[in-house]
Amino acid sequence: MATFRLLARDHKIVTQKRIVLIIGGGIAAYKCLDLIRRLKERGVAVRVVLTRAGEQFVTPLSVGALSNEPVFTNLFDLNAEREIGHIRLSRDADLIVVAPATADLIAKMAGGHADDLASTVLMATDKPVIVAPAMNPRMWLHPATQRNIAQLKVDGVTVIEPAVGEMAERGEAGQGRLPEVPELMERILSALGSSGSSPATSTSITRGAKLPLAGRHVLVTSGPTHEPIDPVRYIANRSSGKQGHAIAAAAARAGARVTLISGPVNIADPANVDVVHVETAAQMLQAALSALPADVGIFTAAVADWRVASAEKQKIKKQPGTNAPQLTLAENPDILKTIAASGSQRPGLVVGFAAETDNVTDYAGRKLKSKNADWIVANDVSPETGIMGGDHNRVHLVSANGVEDWPQMSKEGVAEALIGRIAAHLHASKDAT
Ligand SMILES: Cc1cc2nc3c(=O)[nH]c(=O)nc-3n(C[C@H](O)[C@H](O)[C@H](O)COP(=O)(O)O)c2cc1C
Repeated sequence: MATFRLLARDHKIVTQKRIVLIIGGGIAAYKCLDLIRRLKERGVAVRVVLTRAGEQFVTPLSVGALSNEPVFTNLFDLNAEREIGHIRLSRDADLIVVAPATADLIAKMAGGHADDLASTVLMATDKPVIVAPAMNPRMWLHPATQRNIAQLKVDGVTVIEPAVGEMAERGEAGQGRLPEVPELMERILSALGSSGSSPATSTSITRGAKLPLAGRHVLVTSGPTHEPIDPVRYIANRSSGKQGHAIAAAAARAGARVTLISGPVNIADPANVDVVHVETAAQMLQAALSALPADVGIFTAAVADWRVASAEKQKIKKQPGTNAPQLTLAENPDILKTIAASGSQRPGLVVGFAAETDNVTDYAGRKLKSKNADWIVANDVSPETGIMGGDHNRVHLVSANGVEDWPQMSKEGVAEALIGRIAAHLHASKDAT
């Protein structure tokens, strides 16, 4: 990784990490002034490229004063071309950070445009790129933006998912906020592989404060269940737990206390989440009941509908010349229905998941009523969709208000969007009381 060598006063050579920060034309551009200050405090040199729209939100004067470096705005600036130029600008850095990355800038990156300094630097760079999108939640959820984000990920760009919460526009809430400066710092410093060169002061990373789900308890179930046939065999399904775990992680990032009840999965426990590991549907129900009360219950787990009525205590032996054993199945407890009917213990918002292979939204509508859930997140898990076990999901949010079709997103994207909707719903219910 490229580093800069500086001759310090005591004539020791010290290395300094350098980033190029591209500031797009978003309302959150003001946060970048603090970001520059914090990065400088951690010994990181910051060169800023301001887009034309970015200049509408922060001035080259304030950016230059904070970064103590020239500010770059124009592709055709002859002085800069002679002295530094867009190619050198893009190569001299250890890392390029785009924050706020507007929908427009993201589209340009995904399309390979190079019609201004920012996009040309991004096309010319051979260094890692991080983008931190920030925009109105509808813009974020727009299929074009989601397509472009998916393209950037394929192109190797690191995307910092926008945070959920209130937007600058009155009455707008959801996913789209630029994460707070401490989180941006954490991601940038970890991408630089250091904490800068000479920390003048340390940046404390505060979690939970003023986050949209601060003070809330969110219960999430995830993964499959395993129903034993005998001590070595079991009935299972193809659920990977990726969606439920992503939801638990997103709820934790939104400041909630999260209890995740996980069936057997091959993925890591999310950070900052209390995880209860279970195997069977009966154990999952018991753990869910024990975790109450909760403000929100999100039932993502693919719970087996049936278990073997009486699992054998010893391994069933293959007996030559005899018929294969017959399994008698018994119905498992319905976790979603049981929790939704738990009276005073019922979470204020009960969200079920419906994995179907046909008539997806019809079944989901029926499930909403029969289980007394508030919302059902329905998805088509036919093998050709690749959703079961895959990294993407395409869901429909079914509630008493009707059906909303969401665009295809990464499972993390669905998780962030769902948690955004939940936070907005809880805020709206609080305001209404
Ligand atoms: C007041 C105001 C706020 C805006 N905020 C955002 C924003 O947060 N995110 C976004 O994607 N676009 C936002 N826009 C639209 C962008 O400024 C516009 O798409 C611009 O062309 C983006 O330029 P860029 O590619 O240089 O970032 C905003 C526009 C205005 C007038």
